Amino acid sequence: MAEVVIEAENLTKRYGDFVAVDQVNLRLQAGEVFGLLGPNGSGKTTTILMLLGLTEPTAGLARVLGYDPQRQPLQVKSRVGYLPDQVGFDDELTARENLSYIAKLNGLRHPTGRIAEALARMGLGEVADKRVKTFSRGMKQRLGVAEILLKRPSVVVLDEPTLGLDPEAAREFLQIIRDLKREGITVLLSSHLLHQVQMICDRVGLFYRGKIVLEGRVTELAQQVLGGSYRVQLRAEGPDVTEILKAVPDVLSVDQREKSYYELEARRDVRAEAAHAAVSAGARLLAIGLQEPSLDDIYARYFESVGANDRSHLRIVGGA
Ligand SMILES: Nc1ncnc2c1ncn2[C@@H]1O[C@H](COP(=O)(O)OP(=O)(O)OP(=O)(O)O)[C@@H](O)[C@H]1O
Ligand SMILES: [Mg+2]
Repeated sequence: MAEVVIEAENLTKRYGDFVAVDQVNLRLQAGEVFGLLGPNGSGKTTTILMLLGLTEPTAGLARVLGYDPQRQPLQVKSRVGYLPDQVGFDDELTARENLSYIAKLNGLRHPTGRIAEALARMGLGEVADKRVKTFSRGMKQRLGVAEILLKRPSVVVLDEPTLGLDPEAAREFLQIIRDLKREGITVLLSSHLLHQVQMICDRVGLFYRGKIVLEGRVTELAQQVLGGSYRVQLRAEGPDVTEILKAVPDVLSVDQREKSYYELEARRDVRAEAAHAAVSAGARLLAIGLQEPSLDDIYARYFESVGANDRSHLRIVGGA
């Protein structure tokens, strides 16, 4: 069985009468990338803070690499790299000086080589001796990761790592996260950007009002929430093949959007049979495609189902 690296059991945080995190259960295995999703104020950051020992749970249990973050915060902090939602550096110091200071705080001996290596890896080699106040947001985020790399952690927690980055910088940042995974590092991240999360996370947990309401691989969630429907788009000239396509096994519906354009909903990938049926009926097949279920569809459908109408907090970024 794979090693469980991060664990939460009925983890709960109350502020007075308000329940910010409500009996959350989580298990992350070594080497996984797990995404915490959810609207503003749904409890993502609070959960992260409890896992890191930075805020005290009201109830429940947290365990990181076998340590209790509340009782053994130093063991957790020395092994887990954390990029908070607001990275804080001394603006008057250079990138290298900031990292030297942090290395000293962490009791790292002979950190010079490690610092240079971390800065170079994050593409900050050339600006290493510039003051951080001259850095853009993306550069500061990179410096945040360089700080994390100094520790050579086996677990990394990133709170909204791509917030405020332009699409190119965000794309680069996603690559950094993939590289961490390739090195076997376990990554827990929070985000609102569903498209990005879908691209890099092995599993996701969707927060809503302090609870994890959906959890699993994107394909599993699609099955659960969307009823496992597949969408097939077919472009075919010639006779109307609507009825022919409807007769293909496991096709649930056929919608003729334009004269020679059809959208099918099916229980499985029916591209081969649909193409064959259309051609056999005398149509000329121009294109056929399958649309994978997106996290955005899942999220939207879930919120429709619970009757939540405010989705203004969501920013869906395509193609980043
Ligand atoms: N120190 C605090 N005192 C009182 N309420 C708090 C405190 N910290 C957080 N909360 C409340 O707990 C809820 C969850 O906040 P949290 O920061 O975990 O949300 P989030 O999912 O990270 O949101 P965002 O997407 O905006 O970062 C919010 O309603 C917030 O107002
Ligand atoms: Mg947050």
